[in-house]
Amino acid sequence: MEVVDVDLSDRTYPIYIGSGLLDKPELLQKHVKGKNVLVVTNTTVAPLYLEKVVGLLKANGSKINVESVILPDGEKYKDMGTLMKVFDKAVETRMDRRCTFVALGGGVIGDMCGFAAAAFLRGVNFIQIPTTLMAQVDSSVGGKTGVNHPLGKNLIGAFYQPQCVVIDTDTLSTLPERELCSGIAEVVKYGLIRDAKFFEWQEENMDKLLARDPDALAYAIKRSCENKAEVVSLDEKEAGLRATLNLGHTFGHAIETGIGYGGWLHGEAVAAGTVMAADLSFRLGWIDASLQSRILNLLERAKVPVAPPSTMTVEKFQNIMAVDKKVVDGDLRLILLKGELGNCVFTSAYDTKALEETLHSFCSS
Ligand SMILES: NC(=O)c1ccc[n+]([C@@H]2O[C@H](COP(=O)([O-])OP(=O)(O)OC[C@H]3O[C@@H](n4cnc5c(N)ncnc54)[C@H](O)[C@@H]3O)[C@@H](O)[C@H]2O)c1
Ligand SMILES: [Zn+2]
Repeated sequence: MEVVDVDLSDRTYPIYIGSGLLDKPELLQKHVKGKNVLVVTNTTVAPLYLEKVVGLLKANGSKINVESVILPDGEKYKDMGTLMKVFDKAVETRMDRRCTFVALGGGVIGDMCGFAAAAFLRGVNFIQIPTTLMAQVDSSVGGKTGVNHPLGKNLIGAFYQPQCVVIDTDTLSTLPERELCSGIAEVVKYGLIRDAKFFEWQEENMDKLLARDPDALAYAIKRSCENKAEVVSLDEKEAGLRATLNLGHTFGHAIETGIGYGGWLHGEAVAAGTVMAADLSFRLGWIDASLQSRILNLLERAKVPVAPPSTMTVEKFQNIMAVDKKVVDGDLRLILLKGELGNCVFTSAYDTKALEETLHSFCSS
């Protein structure tokens, strides 16, 4: 088992990464405070892993009272209405201030359960058990929680850190291929924004990742968590550096919003968005053509989209990007690549004409 710490002084917490971790009751139990646990999961993950997790919490005569709430599955349910089901269950089952909420599932469940934990009784303990690659390399780490608003993704939320993150890499064995590829898009992101060596490793090992080679997956998860943990510990509330984790996300979120939540997977939209960000960076003269084509190449090999869907128009992009969380005083700040592989900037100081050119080159109208 590997352990990566997210260093946040008195709120420092461990990320456990390894095979068979859902067979180790001590690991989970030592982070449970109080006697009541509410496991939050969904209709897809519950039949696969809920019994196992409940058993783990109750193992060795622990006397922990375990309740669960099973939400409908999908990004389109990442909303206030679904969140109420968590609060309803928590109130009905008398969860108290010392209870622990456990998120069992992908990023949607993690974000919703975390937000529920932040708000319930003004904050209860929270543990993440991410079961998608996306959640294991990104969303379960760093404490961003929340739900979508019909007009924009993740507009309602809180920063709220978990007690620990338990990543059992065996859970990836049941993950559909499309979901695996979506997670790989975020792995590629870490290489591009700050870890050239990791990007090169991915160029060498992409086929192994797609074949779910356990060692390759474990390495990619560990290296991704290390990168994310470092960024989060330097800039927990996103004063600047942390925003770089959103490479490709401004375009990506516009795609997700534009085609309706759930049409494309998050990582798929991010992959197309990353190619668009690279295109803009190249137009600005900030990266050279060879880097641009390496990015395209690697994402194509990862079997994720490298352009937005044909239903996305320039106007749609512009309207949706105007309400992005990274707009400040009317200026849209973007994460763009600049210089050698592994370097990026978070800036509004780019030629907006170049942005228009990028949008026009990817949209037919
Ligand atoms: N908080 C953050 O920092 C952060 C970072 C990145 C993404 N996100 C959010 O994460 C969400 C995307 O997460 P996701 O890609 O995990 O999507 P998801 O949670 O919808 O999971 C994808 C699908 O896989 C299923 N699933 C989960 N684990 C499985 C398993 N082991 N076997 C079989 N099926 C399984 C789910 O039920 C779902 O159908 C988005 O809402 C995005 O905004 C948040
Ligand atoms: Zn993302």
